[in-house]
Amino acid sequence: MKIGVFDSGIGGLSVANAIEKALPQAEVIFVTDKANFPYATKSPEQIWQGIIPIFEGLIEQQVDVIVVACNTVSTTLSGHLRDRFPIIPLVALDPMVKPAALETKSGIIAVCATPTTLASQRYADLKQEFASDITVLEPDCSDWSYLIENNQMNEAKIQKDIAPALEAGADVVVLACTHYHWIENEIKELSAGRAQVMQPESTIVEQVKRVLGL
Ligand code: DGL
Repeated sequence: MKIGVFDSGIGGLSVANAIEKALPQAEVIFVTDKANFPYATKSPEQIWQGIIPIFEGLIEQQVDVIVVACNTVSTTLSGHLRDRFPIIPLVALDPMVKPAALETKSGIIAVCATPTTLASQRYADLKQEFASDITVLEPDCSDWSYLIENNQMNEAKIQKDIAPALEAGADVVVLACTHYHWIENEIKELSAGRAQVMQPESTIVEQVKRVLGL
């Protein structure tokens, strides 16, 4: 059993690690698009050309499923990818707006994501469907993926960017970019006693299992 995992950079590695841990019998092939990193503010059109050969490469290696371990691509291009590669099942990510809306007691959630994810129609649809009666704050995380990829992120920067949402009463923080999984512990510490932090790795693992009939 072969599982392809794709992201622009090391965000997808946290997802690949979670899949490997849950499915040790599987061969996980992790691929990135370093040439076009970061996707953060790129348009879907700018991202599209670079990912085609990467997906073709995974299909050539006969993977059984491809996990799009990137919210930016999932929210903007997963439909196009399914049309272009109908031969391969794709697991794509949705920002966890629905579970966060179900969990919040204060009626305020914070969604941390790239500008391109926040601008996507998919994200707008999720907000409209599941969060029309709550307040959704969107901290400026536009440089986070770059800083995390280059090991330049630090706690003061995270605190500066996330504190306003916590002070405004957000009691759920959604990590809707896989790069941010690498700073989950720091965000949890900063949010302790105020907000819970959500990221989708366990959901992704369940989806992969379902697709593979496990
Ligand atoms: N890790 C990706 C995401 O989940 C992309 C980050 C980037 O390339 O800026 O959105």
